[in-house]
Amino acid sequence: MSNLFATKPLDKLIAESQEVGEHSLKRSLGPLNLIALGIGAIIGAGLFVRTAAAIADRAGPSVVLAFVVAGIGCAFAGLCYAEFASMIPVAGSAYTYSYATMGELVAWIIGWDLILEYAVAAATVAIAWSEYANNVLAWFGMKIPYQWIHSPFESDPVTKVSGIMNIPAVIILLLLSLLLIRGTKESAFINGIIVVLKTAIVLLFIGIGWSFINPANHVPFIPEPTTYTTPQGITHSYGGIMGILGAAGVVFFAFIGFDAVSTAAQEARNPKRDMPIGILGSLALCTVLYVLFAYVLSGVATVQDFRSTGREASVAFAITKYMAGYEWLSRAVTVAILAGFSSVILVMLLGQSRVFFSMSRDGLVPPVFSQVHPKYRTPHKSNMIIFVFTGLFAAFVPADVSGEMTSIGTLFAFILVCAGVWILRVRRPEVERGFRVPFAPVVCTLGILTCGAMIYGLGWTNWMRLIGWLAIGFVFYFLYGKKHSRLNAPPPEMPEGISLGK
Ligand code: ALA
Repeated sequence: MSNLFATKPLDKLIAESQEVGEHSLKRSLGPLNLIALGIGAIIGAGLFVRTAAAIADRAGPSVVLAFVVAGIGCAFAGLCYAEFASMIPVAGSAYTYSYATMGELVAWIIGWDLILEYAVAAATVAIAWSEYANNVLAWFGMKIPYQWIHSPFESDPVTKVSGIMNIPAVIILLLLSLLLIRGTKESAFINGIIVVLKTAIVLLFIGIGWSFINPANHVPFIPEPTTYTTPQGITHSYGGIMGILGAAGVVFFAFIGFDAVSTAAQEARNPKRDMPIGILGSLALCTVLYVLFAYVLSGVATVQDFRSTGREASVAFAITKYMAGYEWLSRAVTVAILAGFSSVILVMLLGQSRVFFSMSRDGLVPPVFSQVHPKYRTPHKSNMIIFVFTGLFAAFVPADVSGEMTSIGTLFAFILVCAGVWILRVRRPEVERGFRVPFAPVVCTLGILTCGAMIYGLGWTNWMRLIGWLAIGFVFYFLYGKKHSRLNAPPPEMPEGISLGK
C-alpha cells in the first residue's frame, strides 16, 4: 500500500519514457507538429463562443482586458509547463510533474482535475460545434429541432421548448474518437490543415470587422460594477474589476490547450528542445490574435445581442447582422469554425487518453487505459471509454456549466504546476532542464496569484462544482487508486537506475 505523499522518482519517470514495447507510444512529432498541435487545441470554442458569453454575463467590452489577464496567467504557467516538459518528457502533463514533486495524492488530484481540462473541455467544444453545425443545416433549409441540440437544463427563450439531449455533439465526439484510434501521425496531419484554415479566418474577421466597429459599443469600456442574472438563474458580477476577473476565468477556456502539447511529450522526437517551442510559440501567437479578435467582436455587436439571439454561434451572428455584404465571410467562418472545433476536440481527447495512459501505468486507474492497439499503437480502449464519458457530458450538460468547470479545473491544475516547478528547483536543483523558467520564484508566484485571481472571479457556483468534483475523485482514489498504485511495487519489467544524464 502506498504512502499518500510518496513522490515518483524522476529517474523512474525518465526510464519509463525510454521504455519500448506494447505499452509504448510512437515518437513521430517534430517542432512544427507540436506548435500545430498547440494551436489546434487553443483556438476554438473559447474564442468563437465563450467570448460572447463573457461579454454578455461578465464584462461587456472589457472582455479585451480579460483576455490580457488570462494571457498573462497562461504565460506564467506556460513557462512552468515548458520547464517541466523539457525535464520530464513523458506523457501525462501536469499529472506526471506533480507525481514527481508533490506526491501521489496531489498527483491524483491533478490527474482527476485534468479530466475537467481535457474531457470536459472536449464536451464543451462539441456543444459549441453543434451550434455552428445547425447554422450549416439552415443554409439547406434544415434545422435540428431545439430539443435535440440542447441539454435538459436549457429552454428556448422564445418558444419555451425545453432541451432533451444534444445529438450532434455526441456524433462529432464519436467520429473524432474513431479518428484518434487510427493514430497520432495521421491525426496530426489533418490537424495541420485545420490550423491554417482557422488562423486565416481569425485574421480575416479582425481585418474586415475592424471597419464595422461601432465606437458606441465600446463605451463605457469597463461597465459600472453591477450583477447580471442569466436565463438559467445564475447571478454573476458584471462590470468593474470583478467582471474582468470573472470574464478572464471564462475566456481562459480559449487558452486551454497549449499545455496539451506537453501531454504528447512521449511522442515528440526531441522533447527537450521542442516542448518549450511548441508550448510558448503557440501561446504567444494566440494571445495577440485573441485580444484583437475580442476588440472587434465587442465593437461590432452589442451586449444585448449576446444576451439574446446572438449568444449561440455568436461570430456568424455578428457578421450576418452588422456586416452587410459579408455573408460569404459568415459562411466561411462557420465552415472554418466547424473544422477548427474538430481539431480542438481531437487534441483534447488525445490529451485525456495520454493522461489516463500515464495514470494507468502507475496503477492509479485500471490497466485498460494503457492497453495499446497492436496495429495502430494507440490506446484504443481508453479512447472509447473517454468517448462514452464525454458523450454523456455533451449530451446532457449546458455549455456554460461545462465551460466554466473546465476553466476552474485547469486554473487549479496550473497553480499546482507553478508550485511544482518551484518545489523541484529546491528539491532537485541538479537535474538537467532543457528549458529553465527565468526568475523562477517570481514567475511561479505570479502564476499562482494570477490563476488564483481568475478562480476567485469565477464565483462560488464554480468553486462548489470544483470542490464537488474533487470530492468524487477522492472516493475513487481511496476505493481504487491507492490500493493499486505501483509506486512502491514496481513491476519486474520496468528498467531501474537509469541516470538523468547531467
Ligand atoms: N482552447 C480551446 C477552445 O477554446 C479549448 O476551444
